[in-house]
Amino acid sequence: MPERYIGIFDSGLGGLTAVKELMQLLPDEPIVYFGDTGRVPYGTKSNETIIKYTKSDIAFLNTFDLKMIVIACGTASTIALPHVDGTVPVPIFGVVSAAAKAAAAATKNKKVGIIGTNGSIRSGAYARLIAEEDSAIETVSVACPLFVPLVETGHTTGEIARLAAEEYLESIRDFGVDTLVLGCTHYPLLKETIASVMGDGVTLIDPGQVTAGFVKDYLTEQNLLCREAVPHRHRFYVSDCPEDFMTLGSAFLNRPIPGGVEQIDIEKYM
Ligand code: DGL
Repeated sequence: MPERYIGIFDSGLGGLTAVKELMQLLPDEPIVYFGDTGRVPYGTKSNETIIKYTKSDIAFLNTFDLKMIVIACGTASTIALPHVDGTVPVPIFGVVSAAAKAAAAATKNKKVGIIGTNGSIRSGAYARLIAEEDSAIETVSVACPLFVPLVETGHTTGEIARLAAEEYLESIRDFGVDTLVLGCTHYPLLKETIASVMGDGVTLIDPGQVTAGFVKDYLTEQNLLCREAVPHRHRFYVSDCPEDFMTLGSAFLNRPIPGGVEQIDIEKYM
């Protein structure tokens, strides 16, 4: 019997941060990934549009035989997850709750910074979930809208990335946080730059990484782990121009995108 997929989507390339972790943690699990490269960014759109896009991303993934869906997009997780939960026969997990738990566990001085897209920061979801974990934790949140285009165009290190990081992170550094949530799945690609601006002693929480750990625990508990290793079963789809995704994605995964990348018309899925 063919194994069922873990379905993952993001508005673009950023969800590969979760894919990379999952491939390391669960190398035998087949993954189907959708990057909505034709409609990225989500983070600057209205809640209504983000929910509409998320519904169609889930409808597309639901055409596969799945064991679960991971919303590897901070914006869709914070804004759309409550609107899509329960709409398909498999569980849907976002990246926010695992990241909030990890941040609350990591902070020693109870000061946590949160960065994300305009949409994620506007939702207040990270700050709310961290407060639910520990009401003594103070948070400071900053939207960093330039980070996503920097990542999508491959400018993850160098002067432009550094200038943007210095501008966005100044108030968070001044607040004296010891933990920073990279509340958008694109941001771990800027980790080196963000870490150098924040300085030593600040723990960076990568939502894709902590969510991959959560997925492993969930599949293990539910006895859903793949029973045999069959190579090359991953599937990657985008809604625009597979070539760019292939180039940047392969560089990020440190390997060619397994099985290549196919373009689909996401507007057909509702
Ligand atoms: N993937 C989105 C997120 O994690 C960032 C890119 C976008 O704005 O669509 O919030």
